[in-house]
Amino acid sequence: MRRKLVVGNWKMHGSLGRNRELLEAIKPALQGLEGRVEVAVCPSYLHLADTIAALAGSHVGIGAQDLFGLGEGAMTGEVSASMLADAGVGFVIVGHSERRGRLGETDARAADKFAAAREAGLVPILCVGETRSERNAGETETVVLRQLDAVIDNQGIAAMDKAVLAYEPVWAIGSGDPATPQQAQAVHALLRERLKQRGGDIADGIRILHGGSVNAANAGELFAQPDIDGGLVGGASLKAREFITICASAGS
Ligand code: 13P
Repeated sequence: MRRKLVVGNWKMHGSLGRNRELLEAIKPALQGLEGRVEVAVCPSYLHLADTIAALAGSHVGIGAQDLFGLGEGAMTGEVSASMLADAGVGFVIVGHSERRGRLGETDARAADKFAAAREAGLVPILCVGETRSERNAGETETVVLRQLDAVIDNQGIAAMDKAVLAYEPVWAIGSGDPATPQQAQAVHALLRERLKQRGGDIADGIRILHGGSVNAANAGELFAQPDIDGGLVGGASLKAREFITICASAGS
């Protein structure tokens, strides 16, 4: 039985004051869900330390939105996996489509980041997803499997143990046009099947989150699908009530 996980990806939003307000608002409600659903939030690098302090003593986990794919060293402006682990971070998002699409992050770069995260004891959340034009061209399967295989080819199937996968159709992100539960389930099942084909005993245990316009109104139906194990939530994770409702739907 996979325990559901809801991760709030705050992206490039927030300020010290607004984050504290949001955390104060969600903390008590999320405390009530302890044991039923796992929850984490991913603030910007700059806001990690303050968020960790604000969540001290709560069961809400902390994730970073990115990392550099090599160990500590001469790399101006970057943050290593070991720095994140040392600061108290538990999860890290790898290969988000905003980085793949707008910053040219390749499958190979995502694989390096995935490896660095694991080595430092972080749980990587590997994002895969197709663009609208790829879906229209019937390339959804090819794209998401290529993105997943790039990491397995590089790291081996055993490296997926304890990792988290996230299927985020790019066309659904921030668009208010979510995948239907059926569309989402089909791709989630495909990803799990691929993990099985690649020899993974871990396929049944790995959590595959769904992302892309997940909100309080649609989370319940999405999370009820057999291969959807929670959500990677952007915009709705910045609104206390929405986020609490989404987490509660995962815990029901
Ligand atoms: P939205 O929930 O704002 O569509 O963003 C999804 C996402 O990209 C989470 O990583």
